[in-house]
Amino acid sequence: MYFTSLKLRHFRNYVSLDLAPAQGTTVLYGANGSGKTNLLEAMHLLSIGRSHRTAVDREMIEQGESVAFVRGETRRLDGKHELEVRLYPLQKPQKRVLLYGKPAQRISDMMGHATTVMFGPEDLRIVRDGPAARRRFMDMQLSQIRPSYVQALKRYLSVLESRNALLRTRRCDAPADLDAQLDAWDEQLAGAAVYVVEHRRWFLTELAQNAADQYAAIAEDPQETFELRYTGPLATVDTPYRQMLSALKRSRAEDKQRMYTHYGPHRDDLAMLLCGKELRAFGSQGQLRTAVLSMKLGEIRLIENEMGEKPTLLLDDVFSELDLKRRTALLKTAYGVQTFLTCTDKADAAGTHADAFFRVQTDDAGKAFLQEG
Ligand SMILES: Nc1ncnc2c1ncn2[C@@H]1O[C@H](COP(=O)(O)OP(=O)(O)OP(=O)(O)O)[C@@H](O)[C@H]1O
Ligand SMILES: [Mg+2]
Repeated sequence: MYFTSLKLRHFRNYVSLDLAPAQGTTVLYGANGSGKTNLLEAMHLLSIGRSHRTAVDREMIEQGESVAFVRGETRRLDGKHELEVRLYPLQKPQKRVLLYGKPAQRISDMMGHATTVMFGPEDLRIVRDGPAARRRFMDMQLSQIRPSYVQALKRYLSVLESRNALLRTRRCDAPADLDAQLDAWDEQLAGAAVYVVEHRRWFLTELAQNAADQYAAIAEDPQETFELRYTGPLATVDTPYRQMLSALKRSRAEDKQRMYTHYGPHRDDLAMLLCGKELRAFGSQGQLRTAVLSMKLGEIRLIENEMGEKPTLLLDDVFSELDLKRRTALLKTAYGVQTFLTCTDKADAAGTHADAFFRVQTDDAGKAFLQEG
């Protein structure tokens, strides 16, 4: 799939931008703070309805404006797709999605119209940060590939929140039938957990294989193996529903005391192992980068296998950081993939066989505009 049209209005430092992107590689170069990442962020927003760098949607609205939108047209094997995300700082809901000009029922309806893989400097956080960063990674990627996952996750998190809210009621205010109510929530939570875990298991099995292959192809040492493994309370359990239900019962006293649900896929994690050892603790800087690059390349393959076509690749500031071997691997996997690549100097994109170059500039008021060439 590829973007054929992009329109931004009052998005970050873009007052107005209309772009008809090339099907191949577009290089966006320019000074720090000019608006390169903002443009990639807009495409990411169209693919999953969220920014890759903020959870606060209103930050994406140009300062002082009351509405922002990003509109995109994509071409997929099944034809043309049109989608739009509108952001409002003061209204509820703060975000609206339009498909073919008509309001979508749910945010998740937008999945599958534009599929992107973003690779930027912040991706090293998948390795370095805590489990929440890795769950976020799983959630973002899975949402694009399997829209039903969005529903499954939403359902799980909403039941979890209800159970936690009940646990938070002060002891003196607790309902007389607290345990009976918790029994009911336990069943619902266990039922919802099963779907989340099934999706994550599938995703990790597929991604692990693809990422391991990619790592083997670009590692310095051919003996070096990279392994991704889904870990979490239900990751390898044969009967997740029963296991979850009995664990919730077992931990109920503790949950009541700490007013929080301790067991479930909201505590999931992802093990990243280099030759069987924890990558975060044992890996060098270069090995960490190679591992993350392998995961991204693996994702492209996974999307292609699953959806029958390649995603759009958004490469933010990473190309110039890679050595020749890794650049070559990236370009090989990205062959035939619509790619947007950002860098500060045009020369940093040498070797990419780009179809279009745009200098991202800002006017006196700091507003971004593109100049071709
Ligand atoms: N909501 C907003 N309204 C107006 N301007 C904004 C908003 N959010 C961010 N900006 C501006 O956008 C600019 C940052 O853009 P961006 O992150 O795309 O830069 P960049 O070209 O990727 O830079 P770098 O090379 O440093 O990564 C900053 O100047 C910032 O002030
Ligand atoms: Mg940037």
